[in-house]
Amino acid sequence: MIKPLRKAVLPVAGLGTRFLPATKAMPKEMLPVVDKPLIQYAVDEARAAGIEQFCMVTGRGKTALIDHFDIAFELEATLAERGKRDALELLREEAMPPGSISTVRQQVPLGLGHAIWCARAFIGDDPFAILLPDDLVLSQTPCTQQLADVYHETGGNVVAVSEVPPEQTHRYGILNIGEVQGNRVEVRGLVEKPAPADAPSNLSIIGRYILLPEVVTFLAQMERGAGNEVQLTDAMAKMIGHAPFHGLKFEGRRFDCGDKIGFLEAQIAFALARPDLNAAVREFLKHYP
Ligand code: UTP
Repeated sequence: MIKPLRKAVLPVAGLGTRFLPATKAMPKEMLPVVDKPLIQYAVDEARAAGIEQFCMVTGRGKTALIDHFDIAFELEATLAERGKRDALELLREEAMPPGSISTVRQQVPLGLGHAIWCARAFIGDDPFAILLPDDLVLSQTPCTQQLADVYHETGGNVVAVSEVPPEQTHRYGILNIGEVQGNRVEVRGLVEKPAPADAPSNLSIIGRYILLPEVVTFLAQMERGAGNEVQLTDAMAKMIGHAPFHGLKFEGRRFDCGDKIGFLEAQIAFALARPDLNAAVREFLKHYP
């Protein structure tokens, strides 16, 4: 029986060094794209795919992320008093059901794999999605929903993949692929950050996953991989052969918002996708031919 997908883990304990000094006193995941913080995009995307329970893996200096999902009583009262109905409505639409967000602490950022292992009690025996909030996907169907559709069919592991220029494979987890069925590829192997000459393909994993709970057993071995970090990719590789494992060439565009250029491009793309902003953005872009 294929278990329903109801849980998501949001790892947010990274240091965000590429965005210093912006991230000195503010979590990277609170950086806004247009008018919404990255973390909110991730939560909205997951909820649209039927996810009901969230676990944020946090670290020092990340309390703003937790506060973001609280009800701001004083703010709401002031907005109501001043008749700012639209703003109030917006806040209420985004409110989370009580008890739907929990947090665990990753005291030392030892890598993405370690961050997921920190959420092991939350994961329990259930399949779960992982969304890295610094990866944004602009698509017709939310990326997590696209992965969930594959999961509900196969009952196995599914990762979102996109093609990267061959010279950039050393920055990503790369797939060794088997059978290809349309936009779905069978995963035969996974390598974290291979040099271009050693890369088995140019298909890289982006920050969206649906995994079976067994991955926690492999993470518990705490083997250090690339960059001396506990790599999620290495633990996922150990699940190949035990359950179906697919990569999905998702529909949509992915923006790496952990990187300055990706973040800037996301601002433009997301603003252009908004009917209320499109014309004004096109107008000002004329000044930068
Ligand atoms: P990154 O590789 O982007 O690292 O992490 P980072 O620390 O956030 O940013 P830079 O490279 O220093 O600029 C990818 C995702 O994994 C989480 C991060 O919060 C981010 O969502 N992460 C990474 C953890 O939660 N714990 C870790 O130990 C490492």
